[in-house]
Amino acid sequence: MTPIPNRLIGADRLPHLLRQMPKAELHIHIEGSLEPELMFALAQRNGLNLTYADVSTLRQAYVFNDLQDFLNIYHAGTKVLRTEQDFYDMTWAYLRRAASDHVLHAEIFVDTQTHTGHGVTTDVVINGLHRACLDAQAQLGLSASLILCFLRNLSETEAFEALEQASPHLSKLVGIGLASSELGHPPEKFARVFAKARGLGLRLVAHAGEEGPPAYIWSALDALKVERIDHGVQAVQDPALMARLSRERIPLTVCPLSNLKLRVFQDLNHHNLGQLLDAGIVATINSDDPAYFGGYINENFTQTFAALGLTASHAYQLAFNSFEASFLEARAKQAMQDKLLEFFETSE
Ligand code: HPA
Ligand code: ZN
Repeated sequence: MTPIPNRLIGADRLPHLLRQMPKAELHIHIEGSLEPELMFALAQRNGLNLTYADVSTLRQAYVFNDLQDFLNIYHAGTKVLRTEQDFYDMTWAYLRRAASDHVLHAEIFVDTQTHTGHGVTTDVVINGLHRACLDAQAQLGLSASLILCFLRNLSETEAFEALEQASPHLSKLVGIGLASSELGHPPEKFARVFAKARGLGLRLVAHAGEEGPPAYIWSALDALKVERIDHGVQAVQDPALMARLSRERIPLTVCPLSNLKLRVFQDLNHHNLGQLLDAGIVATINSDDPAYFGGYINENFTQTFAALGLTASHAYQLAFNSFEASFLEARAKQAMQDKLLEFFETSE
């Protein structure tokens, strides 16, 4: 049972509390943290031309009708990433930003297939990310781990190849995920490769129920045997699924600003995060692709709380959930949850 702090925190103090409270981020695509300024700098360093004239023209293009619309622009941006240092610089920039948002722990998605598709090896990608994670622990006190996401629009064979190419780096990965175009790409195509990853000791997650139906969440759970669902907001359409998620304490990594920008919800005050929490689901707040969706994790917290009228006890619950839903070992989880409780007990 979660201990809810009993001290009253005024509504005027809530944005400050949301920004300062310790939290974990569990749904961040590192390629989606690539800010236009760094994209232009990397293009120049690598002698590449971008199709946009400058940073502000590029930012103006960040208007999306749906997930696929976003993925097309996101994919174009990844082409500037060529060297291990490029991957390091992108990841380090995210981790510094996360630390300033009081993120104590981050689980970072990476699409190795996107980069191997551009002739960049899996070794270059993972080594660059991993070195930034080591530096974050040493210099920022932020723990970070990596989750390799298969691209669901590609074949099962290609997913097996991606896993094979990552096999020298298993100790640098905590898990496997499933990302990219959801509609028309149900999870079950990847049952065998997820089973293989599980046999290698990797933890399992999958994007499901972002745009896709509740059936995709059921099959992520039953065919892929994932432990956590990324997005999952379409679960509210299916009462039996809601009951299962709550009963089995299967976390959802919810990304409100992403949902707004990709038009999953037309308005932030129509978001169903409050409904998920009321149903006893272990929901968390995350940023997904912060460079594209208008905000990092703290912006997701403050805008969502303002739109939905959520309270300090929701804040505590969401931060507590973020540690519970993480793949940290039990003692590290407990230590972060203790810090969270102490923060709430001493904040004014
Ligand atoms: N959904 C699916 N795949 C993704 C996303 C997303 O929001 N961001 C990057 N890859
Ligand atoms: Zn995502």
